[in-house]
Amino acid sequence: AVKSRVTVVGSGNWGSVASKLIASNTLNLHSFHDEVRMWVFEEILPTGEKLSEIINRTNENVKYLPGIKLGKNVVADPDLENAVRDANMLVFVTPHQFMEGICKRIVGKIRNDAEAISLIKGMEVKKEGPCMISSLISDQLGINCCVLMGANIANEIAVEKFSEATVGYRKNKEMADKWVQLFNTSYFMVSAVQDVEGVELCGTLKNVVAIAAGFVDGLDMGNNTKAAIMRIGLREMKAFSKLLFPSVKDTTFFESCGVADLITTCLGGRNRKCAEAFARNGGKRSFDELEAEMLQGQKLQGVSTAKELYEVLSHQGWLERFPLFSTVHKICIGHLPPAAIVEYTKP
Ligand code: NAD
Ligand code: 13P
Repeated sequence: AVKSRVTVVGSGNWGSVASKLIASNTLNLHSFHDEVRMWVFEEILPTGEKLSEIINRTNENVKYLPGIKLGKNVVADPDLENAVRDANMLVFVTPHQFMEGICKRIVGKIRNDAEAISLIKGMEVKKEGPCMISSLISDQLGINCCVLMGANIANEIAVEKFSEATVGYRKNKEMADKWVQLFNTSYFMVSAVQDVEGVELCGTLKNVVAIAAGFVDGLDMGNNTKAAIMRIGLREMKAFSKLLFPSVKDTTFFESCGVADLITTCLGGRNRKCAEAFARNGGKRSFDELEAEMLQGQKLQGVSTAKELYEVLSHQGWLERFPLFSTVHKICIGHLPPAAIVEYTKP
């Protein structure tokens, strides 16, 4: 049989860990070529060296995942077109705001039998309405796109601590099983559900709840308040997902992509961390500033997702049905103080 070739588009914190996971499997599974190509958005580090060259020399992404060997079969490639050309399995894992541009650059330049999976938590809002990133990929590139989401703080998986993840697929169970095979390891347990929208919306919306949880932390309101915010957030996640896609299944919220990802992100994620700092500063320092200072090049998804969500809610006339989602956005842009997260969200 012909072996599959995998390319990972993205090499940030999670992109690098995803490459490491995949590379450990392609070495052992006969149905895949050993080499995993990883597209690197090129940058020059303070030492004057190119990031892609350091990755290939040291086998480490010294900027986004320092101290972790990726596996010798990971090859960093700064040339996007070249990186995707030969692959029939494309793994997309960049911050969501860059995906539209990336799709434009590779349309017509990929194999016509290519299959995709998105690990990206976010959405785009178009004139026609919201567009999930997996739909953007499949519409623009004309290929199928599954998703993989879960309680997956990258730095913990990098040191091989146990976690679970959920693959969401539309119709093709065989392809979903192939993605599970590519990602599953003894410390990364993946299962598949037939609910691509539900899985992707869970991963996307929980980042907004994580911002709310961070505000609660920054205001020193304690665990009970944070749990209340998480509960209300989960309820809004479920209600919004079902309004948008009536096919979304209740059971999806009990998979790793649902309640488990919500919990880990509200306890230990980057969105939570920056939102805590935002509230501690009384909203006087912007998220852009805090992101640049605290995350060293890594990107937040929750602040832009809150804005995108707000556009959808106001366009649909749903603002009042989603007080937590809309209040997070108003706090992020300085129209309400951080303390409004409890005042305006309380049932
Ligand atoms: P990151 O935030 O660590 O890094 C940012 C990346 O964006 C870097 O690779 C950088 O080179 C790249 N970049 C900067 N400017 C760019 C541009 N103009 N065009 C293209 N790329 C550019 O990235 P990440 O953590 O791998 O996040 C990717 C996705 O994975 C996000 O949607 C995130 O929500 C999701 N995710 C992250 C984690 C995690 O723990 N880090 C876990 C699960 C899911
Ligand atoms: P943050 O981007 O908030 O760190 O969340 C990471 C994540 O998605 C964990 O599953």
